[in-house]
Amino acid sequence: MYEWMAWLEGSALAQVLRGMGIWTYGLLNLAHILGIATLFGSVLILDLRLMGAWRSIGTAPLVRATVPLAVIGFVLAAISGVMMLSFNTTEYHGNPFLYTKFPLIGVALVNVLVVQRLGAWQRAKTGQAAASGDVAVLRVSGAVSLLTWLGVVTCGRLIGYW
Ligand code: HEM
Repeated sequence: MYEWMAWLEGSALAQVLRGMGIWTYGLLNLAHILGIATLFGSVLILDLRLMGAWRSIGTAPLVRATVPLAVIGFVLAAISGVMMLSFNTTEYHGNPFLYTKFPLIGVALVNVLVVQRLGAWQRAKTGQAAASGDVAVLRVSGAVSLLTWLGVVTCGRLIGYW
């Protein structure tokens, strides 16, 4: 792990970023926060709907609004996150919150791939009538997603306090 961290810290990207001036890290942090807010805000609304909130609002239009925003937010958070990490990567060596955050991001992304393959999700997304058992499947999917992303946000916030 340390070798990989030292490589990122010494990379051309890191050297360019560190040479760009004192505002660079702060602006990357701003981009990270905007990405997180966009991702988590979208996920929060969609997952609460899947878990049974706001039943009068159709799932299909909500999916159309929230999923693209979540993807944009994730890409922004990931790009800005790697750039921030490259500034002083080796200082995070042994940080349990960083080491927990990345596997949790992996779990959250695997959950997205799994949910997309579920018949219950396909029906909800396209506005088809729900089959028996769909409500329970969607509730669990929403809960797993929300808890995992909440874990990612919590670990991210706590990285700096270790
Ligand atoms: C490849 C992806 C990512 C990388 C490499 C990354 C890296 C980082 C780094 C280096 C920090 C600064 C830690 C510090 O010194 O305080 C940070 C902060 C943070 N990250 Fe990420 N991150 C990534 C994705 C995400 C995602 C997807 C989320 C949430 C959904 C997230 C949530 C947070 C939060 C809440 C903070 C604290 C921000 C603050 O208080 O200023 N990160 N991240």
